[in-house]
Amino acid sequence: MPRSPAVARTLPSLRRALGDLRARRATVALVPTMGALHDGHIKLVQHAKRRASKVVVSIFVNPTQFAPHEDFGSYPRTWKADLAKLAAERVDLVWNPGVGTMYPPNFATRILPEGPATENLEDRFRPHFFGGVATVVGKLFTQCRPDIAVFGQKDYQQLKVVTRMAADLDLGVKVIGVPTVRERDGLAMSSRNVYLTPEQRAVAPVLHRTMKEAAKRLRNGDDLKAVIADGGRTIESAGFTLDYFEARHAETLAPILSIQDGPVRLLVAAKIGTTRLIDNIGI
Ligand code: PAJ
Repeated sequence: MPRSPAVARTLPSLRRALGDLRARRATVALVPTMGALHDGHIKLVQHAKRRASKVVVSIFVNPTQFAPHEDFGSYPRTWKADLAKLAAERVDLVWNPGVGTMYPPNFATRILPEGPATENLEDRFRPHFFGGVATVVGKLFTQCRPDIAVFGQKDYQQLKVVTRMAADLDLGVKVIGVPTVRERDGLAMSSRNVYLTPEQRAVAPVLHRTMKEAAKRLRNGDDLKAVIADGGRTIESAGFTLDYFEARHAETLAPILSIQDGPVRLLVAAKIGTTRLIDNIGI
């Protein structure tokens, strides 16, 4: 059994642990997560290990990025299994603050991102979301002062928002994006996949399949508007309620009219039953 990583739950113990890690001029990578770790998270950890001498993983289910009607209370919490997975990857430190440590009474400051955070994708359906993400990630960066931070392309708009924020606020952290890890049938791994019933799980790969088909048609020169409309219909006929299926500029996330305006990223968000899934691919 690999040894459990050190765990810090308070700011003084985080500072002590980071001081120990940095003693020999180590480079530190941070992998922010909300726990319920799956192979997608582990891929980020492995990437971090290759890029830095010490790896810190944060596990914090961040209340400020959930709306009152969303799943903060029921979000899967699997601490023991998470720690065992991180031990197997020989992670150096787990930062697991309580809500009161991250947001003490009278907490009153927020980071409000614009640019990629206001392009009418996730922000249209979850208006509170990127403010919560930027605030917590900004805090994680200043608490841990990593040299690099590793995020998944799975949450593509989030990756762009965090990259922009780190640069805009001169946080001195290099943000790295790692390709999405998928199940064998193409479904992007997500902590929320456990919410799917077997029937919904069987339908869920339609998101990835539809994006791949759309990407192929766009590469073959088909009209972008028609391809996007067809894709949306395919996803809805499979039983999803579509929030968006869009082709956007891969860097700015601005709308585009043809693939000549690219590089292009296809992004989708759709609900099946009460579970909302998101995914994206490059073309
Ligand atoms: P969480 O959903 O736990 O995801 C943590 C990190 O894992 C994110 O960077 C996410 O993009 C990445 N990830 C999730 N599924 C993945 C997959 N299938 N393949 C590759 N990477 C994947 O995203 C969050 O937490 C939070 O918003 C957070 C950034 C921690 C701020 O609270």
